[in-house]
Parts: sequence; structure tokens; C-alpha cells
Amino acid sequence: MVKAVRVPRKKGEDMRRRLSSSGLLDEAYFPLHDEEYVYLPVKGKVPRHTLVEVDARRRAVRKGFREMLSGIAGKGAGRIFSSYDVVGDIAVLEVPEELKGRGREIAEALLSSDRKIKAVLGKESGMEGEYRIRKFAFLAGERRTETAYFEHGVRMRLDLAKVYFSPRLSHERGRIASQVGPGENVLVMFAGVGPFALVVAKRRKDAKVYGIELNPDAVRYFEENIRLNRMEGRVEAILGDVRKVVPERFLGVADRVLMPLPKNAEDFLDVALLAAKKGGIIHFYTFVNRAEGNGAAEKKALGAGRKAGRKIEILGSREVRPFSPSTVQVVVDFRAV
Ligand SMILES: C[S@@+](CC[C@H](N)C(=O)[O-])C[C@H]1O[C@@H](n2cnc3c(N)ncnc32)[C@H](O)[C@@H]1O
Repeated sequence: MVKAVRVPRKKGEDMRRRLSSSGLLDEAYFPLHDEEYVYLPVKGKVPRHTLVEVDARRRAVRKGFREMLSGIAGKGAGRIFSSYDVVGDIAVLEVPEELKGRGREIAEALLSSDRKIKAVLGKESGMEGEYRIRKFAFLAGERRTETAYFEHGVRMRLDLAKVYFSPRLSHERGRIASQVGPGENVLVMFAGVGPFALVVAKRRKDAKVYGIELNPDAVRYFEENIRLNRMEGRVEAILGDVRKVVPERFLGVADRVLMPLPKNAEDFLDVALLAAKKGGIIHFYTFVNRAEGNGAAEKKALGAGRKAGRKIEILGSREVRPFSPSTVQVVVDFRAV
């Protein structure tokens, strides 16, 4: 028997994406359903949901890795299994300090258990510097960091060693795209290789989407991804610093501004307010202490509004994903009047 979240069938897909992007979905098992509900196997507690026990069938692919992992890593297996990501055909593992000597063995086990995975990388640092890039070690398989990733009907190429990318934000990208109205001008600050911009443009064919990004490698991939998805003319990738580009090109023109730089987006709220037209919506991402809650994030938005002399209407705020035991990433959606 495994623990699962039970949700009405029509909410099943939404919940599956949310659990997957927060790393809680236990993909070692198939989901179950009856006439009314879907039962999604999970790896641990899910905030605001009571778990039920279900007799879910194991997927053959992951079974192999989990079993091999228990043999190699003992008690550390659960942590490794629940924290690895797959981006395209590359798996990214976080090997705990005490198991560092066995990283290659763990990676070989993963490689042999899933034929889709062609390379396994180990995290060697957190997201660092202005470009938010991680250092990796090659653990197994092909020695490359470039891959192709598919999400919400959008294909993207990217190099994990040269640009920021997280598959865990997939649900959030879908959530934002579903809110964009007809003919909107959407400005994605901190655009990376373009995932938010491209997912918005895929869903909203009549929107004009602009993405500003500082990292030249990311902009190169962003431009390639626009071509790959045949979105030339609807999506524009702009190389530069938002603090310089916004005053030059985007004063008061955006119906919607996205700020996916949780580490210090608050330092750029003044820039987002410059870009947002009267009544424009801003999606502000930030980290808060779990104990302080979303209110702390909303306060940052309200403070920036006061400074800029703009009235702020908070439309909502929610946890995007857990970041560490004490910190969560939160998004505040607000209107600048
Ligand atoms: C956390 S990443 C998000 C990337 C992308 N939106 C995504 O979700 O994959 C933040 C990005 O902002 C870029 N960045 C940081 N400061 C910037 C600035 N002042 N102007 C433009 N881009 C900036 C970094 O290079 C990085 O690619």
C-alpha cells in the first residue's frame, strides 16, 4: 500500500502537475482512479491534504533504480530518489556529502534503469552568481550538459552548465499562461532560455511576448527556441539588463510583467512598476521564511507600490515550491493601478 492524495477527477491533472513540480509526486507508482476521484501516489506529507492508502501498481522503470539505490545508499536512498530531476535526457542528482564516494555507482544505477536517460550529472553547487548557474560533475553516461526539453507543447534546447533552468516550475508556467488575456503585451523580465515566454505564447497566439535576459548564452538558446517553436514575430528575446532595457523600450506598455528571479526580484519591483501600464498585472516571485508566510511577500509588493506612488491591489499569493526546510518560494500576483 502507498500513500496518495485523493482529488476529484476534474482536478486530477492540475494536482498531478503541482505535485510533480514540487517533487512530491511518487512516480514510481501508477496513479489510480474510480468514478469520482483520482489517487496520486506521493512521497511525503502534502500541505492541506489528508492522505489515503491505496494499492497502486509500481512502474517497472523506477522500480529498478529505487531497489539498486537502497542497496548502494541505504538510509540515504529516499532523499536521493525524491530529489533528482530529469531535464530532457539528462538526470541531475544531488548526492549527499556522506555518499559522495559512491556518486558514480548511483548514477550508473539510474542510467541502467531508465533508457530515456543518456547522461547523469551531480550537483556541485547551488545556483550561483548573476546568471543563477549551477556547477556540475559528470557522473555517468555521455559527457554533455546540452539537452532538449518538452513542456506544455513547447520544445526547448538548453545547456544546464551555461543557463538557469528548472523543470519544477512547469506548473507555474502553465498557471501564468492560463491567465493571459486576448492581445496582451507580456513582458518577462529575467527570461532565461524563454520557458515562461514560450509557454505563454503557445497558449495565447494573439499575445505579444518580450523576454529580457542578461546571460548571452541564455539569449542564444532563447532565440533558437523561438525558431524551434515557430514563434518569430510573436516572441522577442532581448539581451540586456532589465534596469536599462525597460526605461528605453517598455515604459508603461505592459499588460503583464513576470519577475521570475526569486533571489532578488524585490530589488527590481520599481522597474516592473515602470513597465506595467495602469491596471497592469505583475507576478512577483520571492523567497520567504516559511514561518512568516505569504504575507511577508505581499508586504514587499505593497512597499514598492508606496515608493512608486502606485496603488497596489493584491490579487493573490501562493507557494510555488519548497526551497529548503525553512524557506519557500512564493508568487504574489498584483495589479498596479
Ligand atoms: C532564476 S533565473 C530564471 C530564468 C527563466 N525565467 C526560467 O524560469 O528558466 C533568472 C534569470 O535572470 C537573469 N538576470 C539576472 N539579473 C538580470 C537583470 N538585471 N536583467 C536581466 N536578466 C537578469 C539571469 O541571468 C537568469 O537567467
